[in-house]
Amino acid sequence: IKKIAVLTSGGDSPGMNAAIRAVVRTCAFHNIECIGVYRGYQGMIEGDFREMGPRDVNNIINKGGTILKSARSKEFMTPEGRKKAYNNLKAQGIDAFVVIGGNGSFTGGLIFNEEYGFPVIGIPGTIDNDIYGTSFTLGYDTALNTVVEAIDKIRDTASSHNRLFFVEVMGRDAGHIALNAGIAGGAEEILIPEEDMGLDRLVESLKKSKASGKLSSIVVIAEGDKIGKNVFELKDYVDENMPEYDVRVSILGHMQRGGTPTCFDRVLASRLGVKAVETLLEGQSNYMVGVLKDEIVLTPLDLAVKGKSQIDKELIRVSDIVSI
Ligand code: F6P
Repeated sequence: IKKIAVLTSGGDSPGMNAAIRAVVRTCAFHNIECIGVYRGYQGMIEGDFREMGPRDVNNIINKGGTILKSARSKEFMTPEGRKKAYNNLKAQGIDAFVVIGGNGSFTGGLIFNEEYGFPVIGIPGTIDNDIYGTSFTLGYDTALNTVVEAIDKIRDTASSHNRLFFVEVMGRDAGHIALNAGIAGGAEEILIPEEDMGLDRLVESLKKSKASGKLSSIVVIAEGDKIGKNVFELKDYVDENMPEYDVRVSILGHMQRGGTPTCFDRVLASRLGVKAVETLLEGQSNYMVGVLKDEIVLTPLDLAVKGKSQIDKELIRVSDIVSI
C-alpha cells in the first residue's frame, strides 16, 4: 500500500477533523501518500481529490465539522456511480480508502469492496452512537455535552415559568443521546425508541411528579421515538389531558452536530485514525476500527453494518430512580 485516500461521509460530527488529521499524519509517519477526497462519495465520483501532507491539517484538531466536507451521495448507490469512483481512484493510483462516517457510509464502502475488491477501513463518525462494534462514535460525547448545556438553559426558563418542556434531541433510530443527556440534564422522563413508554404511562408519571411537588419538568424525547406522530402531537395530548401543565416544545436540531470536539472525541479520533492506517499497512482491510472497554478493536465491516448497537438498559432504571 503506497497511497491511501480519506473521506468523510454522511452527517458530519465533531471529531471528524481530528480523525482526518490523524489519518494524514499517520500516512506521513509511515512515508506513504495521502489523498483527501472532498464531499464524501460524491467527490470520489467527481474526482475531487487533493494531496494532503502533515501541514495541511494544522490547527484543525479543535474544529467542528469536516474540512473535507461531507455529502450523502445518491449516485454512489448506483453501480454506474461506483464505477466512476473506482476509475478515479485507479487513475490516481490510490490503493485503499478510509471512510469516516456512519452506517450508510460503511454500507457504501462494503458494496464497493464487494464489487471491486478495494480495501476499505471505516472509522465510526456520527453523533448518534448507533454503530455496532464500538462503545463510542466520534462526535457523540461532544453532542451529549452540547445537549446537556442546552437542557440546563431550558431548565432555567422552565423553572421560572413553572412549565413542562419537551426537548427533542437527535439520534435517528437510537436513544443514546436522549438517555444519557436526559440523565445528565435531570430529565423527569426520557422517551426513546428502544423502550415503548406509551402515552398513558407518561401522563401518569407527569401527574405523579406534579403531586410530589415538582413545579417544572423536562421530558427529553429522542427524534426516533414513536410515542406520538411527532413531539407537537405529544404536546397537544398533554395540553388536552393535563390542563394544569403549561407545555412548550424545544427541538434542538442541527446545533447538536456542531461545535468544538471534546477532549474525549479528539483523543478517540486520534487513536482510531492511527489504527485505521496501520491496519491497512498490515495488509488487513474491510474492518471498522472502534473502541470497546478502552481497547481499540477491529470489527468486520459487514458485522458493523448488520449488527445493532444496544442501549444500556441499566440507565433506564437509574433514570427512573433519580427522577422521582
Ligand atoms: O446521523 C446524524 C443525524 O444528525 C441524525 O441524528 C439525524 O437524524 C440526521 O443525521 C439528520 O440528517 P440531515 O442533516 O441530513 O438532516
